[in-house]
Amino acid sequence: MNDLREWLKEIEARGLLKEVNGADPHLELGILAEVNCKRRGPVLLFDKIKGHEEGYRIVTGAMLDAQRLGLTLGYPEIRTDQELVSKLEGKVIEWERRSGEFAPREVAGGSVLENRFFGNDVNLLKFPVPKWHEHDGGRYLGTGCVVITRDPDTGTVNLGAYRLMLHDEKTLALHISSAHHGALNVKKYHAKGEAAPIAVSFGHHPLYHVLAGMSVPYSISEYQYLGAIFGKPVSVIPGEITGLPIPADSEFSVEGFSPPDDLRDEGPYGEYTGYYASGTAKEPVIQVKALYHRNDPIILGAMPARPPHDYSYFMSAMKSANVKDSLKKDGIPDVKGVWYHEVSGINFFTVVSIRQRYPGHARQAAYVACQCRAGGTSMGRYVVVVDDDIDPSDLDQVVWAISTRTNPEKDIDIIRNTYTGPLDPIYPKNAKIAFGSRAIIDACKPFDWINDFPRVVQSSDEEREKVMKKWHGLFD
Ligand SMILES: Cc1cc2nc3c(=O)[nH]c(=O)nc-3n(C[C@H](O)[C@H](O)[C@H](O)COP(=O)(O)O)c2cc1C
Repeated sequence: MNDLREWLKEIEARGLLKEVNGADPHLELGILAEVNCKRRGPVLLFDKIKGHEEGYRIVTGAMLDAQRLGLTLGYPEIRTDQELVSKLEGKVIEWERRSGEFAPREVAGGSVLENRFFGNDVNLLKFPVPKWHEHDGGRYLGTGCVVITRDPDTGTVNLGAYRLMLHDEKTLALHISSAHHGALNVKKYHAKGEAAPIAVSFGHHPLYHVLAGMSVPYSISEYQYLGAIFGKPVSVIPGEITGLPIPADSEFSVEGFSPPDDLRDEGPYGEYTGYYASGTAKEPVIQVKALYHRNDPIILGAMPARPPHDYSYFMSAMKSANVKDSLKKDGIPDVKGVWYHEVSGINFFTVVSIRQRYPGHARQAAYVACQCRAGGTSMGRYVVVVDDDIDPSDLDQVVWAISTRTNPEKDIDIIRNTYTGPLDPIYPKNAKIAFGSRAIIDACKPFDWINDFPRVVQSSDEEREKVMKKWHGLFD
């Protein structure tokens, strides 16, 4: 089940697919997709899109819940958040360990080559490209996309999910935050005065998108992680222009170059924090030299909005799993849970629960969580550490712990000069460079008098179970 069509068949078999015919790509499609996300509705497959040939489709709402994300990761039995969280325990460590066994397999042909266009025949305008939000500065083709770049020094191929704005039939403007690996790769070419080769897949099995949106060590290609999750190497074709590996069963891909001196306006675009923060800036472009697509191509759409939105669930779940495994790898003991809250714009409110073992354990967990690779190279704000009687994904419980177990003058630390980027709504406007900060809130019971901390008003599990057994049916 490695391509988008097979994945859609599975989704349809579960009654989770809805076809929508005749939507207008100018705002209408975006509004429908957004309303659907807020309701955690079905996967929407838009066809007969106004102004476009039938069969040129867009799919949205791919991973709005645990069931869909579980299916995407190869765990079709998963139905609930808790099942997903326990399934993901240790997985990131395992994928990383096994990634060396799964270099992508280069193949001579693939369904993406059913239609091929080069040079003057390239025409991106043939495809439905929504203007997703009313105040966007343009139409965005790259939303659920995978941007493929290569480190010119080591040859490692990176897959990243970065937004792409349509400029004309052969040009896309690219927005990549400076700490992201795609930006490091592109800048290495530009620093030598060379055009950076870039390929993009716009439709693929959603796992490609999950991995492209996840922080993977710079030295490892997301293609290898994909292989480790699928349990077999992924098939790629070498791009005829750049040689970059393109998923052989991509629905629609392009390749071309980003010359160092071609910067054009990009943005504003409705962002995942729920704001238009980064505005319009001069950004690198991809001058598209080749375009490949399957017959009746399907674009994977992933539209941000005020959260929750199309990709906030999967990003929160994957980031939580990634950071939890980072803490484990670093030897921080007894970390019971990590949760990135969707409502904060994924990155801005993180909760870690621990069973406290020694003085300083809580602070250590918090500092590592917000500065390890998986947690520190994106924007962030608040990291809360709670005891293991608190469910980190339950905001009521977390607010209760902050409210009752902290003494603000002692329990809030500020880390200054941390990473942030222009998508941060409080990033100073017109600043060329700026730093953020992190607030650590230690909402654990004070370790030095933990045994004297007031008892929680709650009967024991055994007592509750006894009563509920006797009174079963009362609350149905
Ligand atoms: C749908 C979606 C859109 C994203 N858009 C951008 C973007 O426009 N620019 C960016 O730098 N990161 C964006 N991200 C976040 C990065 O993809 C993510 O941080 C990833 O880990 C970066 O990978 P890299 O470190 O290999 O570059 C997006 C993520 C998702 C899921």
